[in-house]
Amino acid sequence: MRLASAELVDSREILPGQWLQAYHAPDLAVGSRAGQFVHVRTGDFSGLVLRRPFSLNTTDPATGIVTLHFRVVGRGTEWFTRLRPGDAIDLLGPLGRPFEVDPRSQHLLLIAGGLGIAGVRMLADEAIRAGRQVTLLFGAASARDVYPSSLLPDEVEYVVATDDGSLGHHGFVTELVTGYEAWADQAFACGPTPMLAALAQLVAGRRDRLGVAKLGRKRGGGKTVAAGSPAARRKSFLQVSMEQNMGCAVGACLGCVVMTTSGTPQRVCREGPVFAYDEIAWEGGW
Ligand code: FES
Repeated sequence: MRLASAELVDSREILPGQWLQAYHAPDLAVGSRAGQFVHVRTGDFSGLVLRRPFSLNTTDPATGIVTLHFRVVGRGTEWFTRLRPGDAIDLLGPLGRPFEVDPRSQHLLLIAGGLGIAGVRMLADEAIRAGRQVTLLFGAASARDVYPSSLLPDEVEYVVATDDGSLGHHGFVTELVTGYEAWADQAFACGPTPMLAALAQLVAGRRDRLGVAKLGRKRGGGKTVAAGSPAARRKSFLQVSMEQNMGCAVGACLGCVVMTTSGTPQRVCREGPVFAYDEIAWEGGW
């Protein structure tokens, strides 16, 4: 974790109320991994002194550019939209634990709901650089909220679902998953908790027939690993990035705790935000 100064390079509204900003932050662009996030200090101190957590949307070690994708939800995030190229902010990060990809996985299924795209977007870049195939399933309320395909690498297969049927599949993005589960070696999701709970329910009970579990059986992957460890997450068919309100983002305030199936509360900012789907106690969501 580092405190880094970042200079705004580009800022634009890519969807209604959603902004994509590019910062020159070479200290963060190197060494950060998909699934991690930064805590950004707002310059609006009118009672809003808390930093804001943003997923690392993309990082480019060659240029030192880091992009952040966020929704304006109040004065703190609105302040960022008034920044101009050349303005500087400070970022604390990278924070949290990243997604873990099994080295044998060749086919990655990414599933995003709304702004959850920011949580998995960087994984697409990492996977393509490593020669893997990526399909991204994206769900939104309607066509006006659909993430622009022009912001994705050409190599990504992009499949859209909208609640009102105005673009792509008419229905929830979770309804698309069964069409890809035989193809996918692993799946990685970020979005609203009900979406993640629905995915977890879909996968539960079929874990031995899905993706990386099949690979593990073939190659003698029966070794037990500690629950909650990076190795356990790497073996999981489905990893989820939890969206949770955060205060300190460094493990001190306990404001971001989720309950796990082991009965142990876990901090999303420190032990997460990425978890294996079966680590989380999805209360009422199964
Ligand atoms: S946000 Fe404070 S412990 Fe996670």
